[in-house]
Amino acid sequence: MVPILLLGVPGAGKGTQAKRLVLRYNIPHLSTGDMFREMANSGSPLGVQVLADMRAGNLVSDATVCELVALRLQREDCRQGYILDGFPRTLAQAQWLQGFWASSLPLGGNPIVIYLTVGYNDLYRRLLGRRSCSQCGRIYNEFTQPPRQAGLCDLDQTPLVQRKDDDPAVIRERLSAYEEQTLPLVEFFRKQARLLEVSGTEPVDRVSEKIFATIENAGRENASRANAKGEPA
Ligand code: AP5
Repeated sequence: MVPILLLGVPGAGKGTQAKRLVLRYNIPHLSTGDMFREMANSGSPLGVQVLADMRAGNLVSDATVCELVALRLQREDCRQGYILDGFPRTLAQAQWLQGFWASSLPLGGNPIVIYLTVGYNDLYRRLLGRRSCSQCGRIYNEFTQPPRQAGLCDLDQTPLVQRKDDDPAVIRERLSAYEEQTLPLVEFFRKQARLLEVSGTEPVDRVSEKIFATIENAGRENASRANAKGEPA
């Protein structure tokens, strides 16, 4: 597998789809949001700063993010591919990642960037209705994907929790950070012909099918280009 990057506005469904990609391709899911939530709970000085950034809907500094991702990507389990969810989010992070890929991936190992699109009207409903299991991380939605038993995870019956940044005022800040700092990455990756756009507005299963098909087509194209040049796919 080549690296898979999920790009999209908060609430587009990146986390939901990343969990399904893990099951299908058996590669690790690297969510910088999850890493920061863990760090924020640690109470360390850096954790306190990260918590303040997240509660305000701001992005964490590029230096902190890139250092964290660099450490994670060095782990053995990333050798056979990985899913990036929520990273990169600024041009500086994207350029850092480009450099990392250039030095670490074999020729022909073209990463795949899936740009998940959703209309802004759906986003508040998705973010305000989101609940997740504090035990297994499964994501639900009170409006669109409710659990079988109200407030409890279907898999382990753990009470569901709401993220502190899924609050109307913080959501507004997150969306404006996205527009100003992350949206330009769509053009950045489009120019490199890596960007594959998938509509995230259909039901979750249908979106997953489209993502799998897009990734598997791109994988076949990568392989045939590499074969034509006599390079490893
Ligand atoms: P992060 O945790 O990455 O949050 P985000 O990008 O704001 O994205 P979300 O997790 O809100 O949305 P999602 O696209 O994963 O949607 P989901 O699948 O959950 O980041 C949090 C914070 O950490 C940032 O604000 C920042 O402070 C910091 N941070 C993280 N990375 C950083 C970085 N690289 N640089 C700097 N700072 C960083 O789905 C949402 C809801 O919709 C769910 O309820 C789900 O059930 C529902 N849903 C999903 N798909 C569908 C569908 N097809 N139909 C109907 N409902 C659906």
